[in-house]
Amino acid sequence: MNVIIKKDYDEICEQIAEQTIEQIKSKPESLICMPGGDTPLGVFKYLIQKVKEQNIDLSKCSFVSLDEWISLDRSVKGSCIQTLFDELYDKIDIDLQNQVCFFNGKAKDLDVECQRVDKFIFDKGGIDLVVLGIGMNGHIGFNEPGVDTEKYCTIVPLDDVTRSVSVKYFGEQLNLEYGITLGMKHLLGAKDVILIANGTKKADIVKAVVQGEVSNKVPASLIRNIEKSQLFVDEEAASKL
Ligand code: F6R
Repeated sequence: MNVIIKKDYDEICEQIAEQTIEQIKSKPESLICMPGGDTPLGVFKYLIQKVKEQNIDLSKCSFVSLDEWISLDRSVKGSCIQTLFDELYDKIDIDLQNQVCFFNGKAKDLDVECQRVDKFIFDKGGIDLVVLGIGMNGHIGFNEPGVDTEKYCTIVPLDDVTRSVSVKYFGEQLNLEYGITLGMKHLLGAKDVILIANGTKKADIVKAVVQGEVSNKVPASLIRNIEKSQLFVDEEAASKL
């Protein structure tokens, strides 16, 4: 894994947006996976801007969302899908019916929901580029500490850290117990993986991801097994390396 330290979050976001554009230019039918949460918001801003400025044709590419809180849908501010639609999908010229796949956190049969998203990914030959934030406990998507690395899409009990951090999205403690997520098999099988961590609060987990052992106890550390993966950190998040 290549660790790239940038001055600040803004620089990280501009570079990742540019890399995403390059990916689409080199393979117009790329399947791209973006996360929810706070980390990708700057990437989305630059991506929208660059797509317009460079007149990028998005008509052949597809997007798959990384994960969702079970029991939430787009009506809940802070859900992954609300973030992705409001901050990205609705602001670019794509066919929302056919080019976007996301988890329905309210699906009646969650196993079928996993199979549906698996099929979308398999039909496209796997993920070309996945951008990931890193949780305070080292999770990626909802692949929590102790993750089973043999899963494709899967339903997972949420870690206590994830549940307590969730207040920042919802403004209150919702009783969220499970997540639905692309599993490690999809993430480790992606052709290109970019991790992002910014801010002082991520410094400890960044140190564990980069300098600790590669272990399912810190799921993001598993990305080190992918030689050409990249971890972008700002100076604050890199401060303990
Ligand atoms: C969000 C997701 C999570 C977040 C991670 C970091 O869809 O899958 O893994 O990327 O918890 O969250 P933020 O970006 O809010 O610091």
